[in-house]
Amino acid sequence: MSRNWLVALVVLAACQPKSPELELMQLDTIQLENATLKVEVLADSLNVPWDLDVDSESFLWVAEQEGKVSRINLKTGDQKYLLQIPEVWKVRTSGLLGMVAHPDFSKNPFLYLNYTVKNDSLIYSKLVRYRYKEDSLINPEVLLEIEGGTSHNGSRLAFGPDGKLYWATGDKHDYTYSQNREKLNGKILRFNPDGSIPSDNPDPTSPVWAWGFRNMQGLVFSSKGLLFTSEHGDAIEDEVNLIRKGGNFGWPAIEGKHDLPAEIDFASANQTIEPIRSWTPVIAPAGMTYYGSEVIPDWKNTLLLTTLKGKSLRILFLNESGDSIDGEEILFENLYGRLRDVAVGPDGAIYLSTSNQDWNPQPGFPLPGDDKILKISPSSSLSSNPISPVKASEILALDGKQLYKNYCASCHKEDGSGVAEVFPALVNSQVVLGDTRRLIELLLKGQVSSDGAQAMPDFSFLDNREAAEILSYIRTSWGNSASSISSTQIESLR
Ligand code: HEC
Repeated sequence: MSRNWLVALVVLAACQPKSPELELMQLDTIQLENATLKVEVLADSLNVPWDLDVDSESFLWVAEQEGKVSRINLKTGDQKYLLQIPEVWKVRTSGLLGMVAHPDFSKNPFLYLNYTVKNDSLIYSKLVRYRYKEDSLINPEVLLEIEGGTSHNGSRLAFGPDGKLYWATGDKHDYTYSQNREKLNGKILRFNPDGSIPSDNPDPTSPVWAWGFRNMQGLVFSSKGLLFTSEHGDAIEDEVNLIRKGGNFGWPAIEGKHDLPAEIDFASANQTIEPIRSWTPVIAPAGMTYYGSEVIPDWKNTLLLTTLKGKSLRILFLNESGDSIDGEEILFENLYGRLRDVAVGPDGAIYLSTSNQDWNPQPGFPLPGDDKILKISPSSSLSSNPISPVKASEILALDGKQLYKNYCASCHKEDGSGVAEVFPALVNSQVVLGDTRRLIELLLKGQVSSDGAQAMPDFSFLDNREAAEILSYIRTSWGNSASSISSTQIESLR
């Protein structure tokens, strides 16, 4: 390029209206078939950002469980705290749990919040509407107050393409509520934006839209206008449901698929609706969003589901008519810890919140700077060690090498070389090659390093076969040569 050209370019650039690229700290890159992505930190040092919502002015709203509300300018990254609700009662899973901005925010600058309060011994779940004005949230109006509990308070809020407000409530851990349509717990409720009851609800005197739920953690409309929820099962059967007006989703008579004799009887007597996906063992699904953008073509027409126990993002591929799930991929497993919510920005970027400061911290977490909001967006380059999603169906029968890659390589590296002074090398390790009992116990129980800085997580959730596959793999790879370990050996030490 000639010098003149360069000068011309510099002058041109100087005349452009300023739109500085937002510079964020990059954590990782992701390789998909048709896209290359980067993961960056949009915000850090938060305390359990339970709900994320992008408004129609392209700002990201953040609700932290203890009752804080902030708004982030997605172009500059500036975060402004606008509200701390003093009456929020935060214990374990209660607190500020649901948030949504009015879909036409410039015209109707309303922010809807749901949170738990406790007066003496009585617990409530409140639906409150605030008005946004000049960088503050004012005029709180209580639209509804329902019973709350020490757990199972839900909850999520969403606006439908019909302009109505939907609220997914928890059953407050009372088995009699979900099937009782007089009670507003364990339901999806539907309102006009002012909190009144729409005349086309199943019962025009009640906000109840659908019932038979336990504790929903995700609520989202797809581009086809279909409403999906994610929900925590008890010890088994986490669910994603496709919600129908007036539908009964079976809890507590039915858990997950209608597959037990008593469930089949209840289902035919009550016309209940089966989940479109269920998970056993459970993954603890949390916030969910719909991805409809072309920006990440691999993920067009998917539900993106965060998981807590699963410590991953699930990519649920919808079929063409958008009413069933025909594929699932798992990303970030164990990498950033518990993930609480996810939202999509106007330019197709994805925002995820971590939940490593919550009531159930996992070994190895929180990481420095937690909790964070992560941004996933296209990247022009890949780092040396990019992440790729794994097909969920493959996880079912993965061999030792693949299991190692999914569960161990993030710390001990794919070639077993570890990270100096942080994660020990497994190559030539006396622990790996030595006493099998000690090795199995380390895997099943985990271990905090002597200086307390790092921990080997506990992998007791692996089944016997998986644990045996992984340990056999590390004892026979990268030049290690020791005997294999069997499922029976694992079982005997549980
Ligand atoms: C989050 C990071 C992390 C992950 C994931 C992880 N480990 Fe570890 N691992 C550690 C740390 C840290 C230590 C050292 C603990 C200590 O100092 O006692 C360790 C120690 C070990 C050791 C002892 C090595 C030695 O020579 O002392 C073995 C064996 C091991 N891990 C196996 C595994 C296997 C198998 C997996 C996958 C199932 C796994 N680890 C996953 C962090 C991790």
